[in-house]
Amino acid sequence: MLEGIDGAGTTTQSRILVNRIKGLGLKAVLTREPSDGPIGLLIRKILKGEISAEEDVLALLFAADRLHHMESLRDHLKDSFVVSDRYVLSSLAYQGSRLPLEWVASINSRAISPDLAIIIDVDVDVALRRISNRPRERFENRKDLIKIKSIFLDLADRYGAFVVDGNRSIEEVFQDIWNLFKNWAGVDG
Ligand code: TYD
Repeated sequence: MLEGIDGAGTTTQSRILVNRIKGLGLKAVLTREPSDGPIGLLIRKILKGEISAEEDVLALLFAADRLHHMESLRDHLKDSFVVSDRYVLSSLAYQGSRLPLEWVASINSRAISPDLAIIIDVDVDVALRRISNRPRERFENRKDLIKIKSIFLDLADRYGAFVVDGNRSIEEVFQDIWNLFKNWAGVDG
């Protein structure tokens, strides 16, 4: 699972990772959160400000989206590497920046734990520059992202997630992610 603040590059790196895994002749599936299912679509409207919802409602929706779309991936989880562009740590960092972390953790306690969680850590200025050409969503401002970045780094220790430096080129960042994946999966390539 790839995690990080907006602009960290989780979407780009998840795509490359799935393609490289498939390139080894292994099965891999790419997914993302918020998902493309009905709860994920609702969440996207809230993030854009098209529908209003309090923080606790949004947190519950993220948790529900997670369980719901993992249900649809159940068969893939048996025989494929499932790569998710964001997962539980995003809820802990984003929703935890505005709500008690323990509560956010408790509503996510039924989500299966990832085998490998990688946080792409990026400077907030770099992140803001990367997302400067798109409309700003709910958490996409300097103040929130500074807080969320720091929670992600605290979570790394607590949840055994790996941190890679995302301020470099796509290829350099990917090399670190690929090394972590290969070590964990025990594959050469
Ligand atoms: P993002 O992953 O950047 O998707 P897109 O590229 O389609 O905009 O946006 C998702 C936003 O949702 C991002 O700001 C992080 C936030 N988020 C949470 O607040 N909690 C979560 O549990 C997840 C998965 C994402």
